[in-house]
Amino acid sequence: MMDRQRLGVNIDHVATIRNARGGMYPDPVRAALMAEIAGADGITAHLREDRRHIRDEDIEALVAALTIPLNFEMASTSEMQEIALRFRPHAICIVPEKREERTTEGGLEVANDKNRLSDFIKPLLDLGCRVSLFVEPDERQLEASAEIGATVVELHTGAYCDYHAEGSNRFALDELARISRCSVFANNLGLEVHAGHGLTFENVSPIAAIPQVRELNIGHFLIGESVFVGLDNAISQMRRLMVEARL
Ligand code: PXP
Repeated sequence: MMDRQRLGVNIDHVATIRNARGGMYPDPVRAALMAEIAGADGITAHLREDRRHIRDEDIEALVAALTIPLNFEMASTSEMQEIALRFRPHAICIVPEKREERTTEGGLEVANDKNRLSDFIKPLLDLGCRVSLFVEPDERQLEASAEIGATVVELHTGAYCDYHAEGSNRFALDELARISRCSVFANNLGLEVHAGHGLTFENVSPIAAIPQVRELNIGHFLIGESVFVGLDNAISQMRRLMVEARL
């Protein structure tokens, strides 16, 4: 049996529902605490530049309330760097961000932006944060991530999930093979490997089964599923699938 894979639960979309009406509920911190009880190993939250879901005060409240690690997702801007340095989260995941996108499309361009990113992550690493780069499963990006001293890479599973949902099985298998190969490659470079984006009960097992993948970060599907079965049941079922995939 392989070692236990961590599950990070992304609570951004609890804030999306709250913000649809303004006001105070549903409260993402309450969701985070419930996720913790249901067996999440960490909580992920993305403070977007436009604050469309998580807001600065949510990050502050999460830092104060959580006893499990917070993985703070952010773009590589000086505003976000300052916020990260203030809150000192356990982990920071750097993601690309475009204002007009609905969700994080594609991975971070590390190879062509090495000097800037290296300078950007240095103070975060110096503070003791685990710094993760959200990248496509692409050897060039992984090599560059290792070169600039990142601790972790999170492999973008969005393309795999899209092909899977469309029933494009051959493309989904090709993409899975790429994620698998890149997980080995990154692990050999000394990077810890995480994966996420678009994962559901239907598509999680082959990703969870990759031995080098130490953590999955899952949000949108779990929050949606919780409407029907409750957040605790949705998380337990996801955990069960992850465990079974690694038996
Ligand atoms: N990992 C990263 C780096 C992300 O940006 C996101 C989406 O915010 C996720 C994981 C979770 O993706 P999803 O909400 O599709 O499960």
